[in-house]
Amino acid sequence: MRITVIHGPNLNLLGTRDPEIYGHDTLEELNDKIRSAAAELSIEVSFHQTAREGEIIELLHGAEDGVILNPGAYAHTSRAIADGIASISVPVVEVHLSNIHAREEWRRTSVTAEAAVGIVSGFGATSYVLALHALKERTHP
Ligand code: DQA
Repeated sequence: MRITVIHGPNLNLLGTRDPEIYGHDTLEELNDKIRSAAAELSIEVSFHQTAREGEIIELLHGAEDGVILNPGAYAHTSRAIADGIASISVPVVEVHLSNIHAREEWRRTSVTAEAAVGIVSGFGATSYVLALHALKERTHP
């Protein structure tokens, strides 16, 4: 089982970006945590980070068995990414490090989540690990 992990805009700055909200892990350290959880579940993972909306859509089109997508702020704005998610048969789980419902009003809506099979928000790296479990369970119930 191959899962594509996509980190959206500004997530390359993890570790220094608002650590009180996003934690102290760098993106590499976050990926290490996801990688070891995936290994325990016998899941192959590939990691991508991009600030570009179109690249996120192209990554969705190329996904194999499942996607874990942190769209960053595109979650709140991007109908194009929502359409991209809706255009593929591969399940997409949306994740957020922070609890988007406990922050500014404008973050409380996710247009991309409307097309995802589910959303995990508020658990830091564990959001991604829970998404791995959800995708595994969905594929091999
Ligand atoms: C985020 C939440 C978004 O609102 C924000 O724009 C991000 C990170 C999260 O992981 O908590 O860039 O997606």
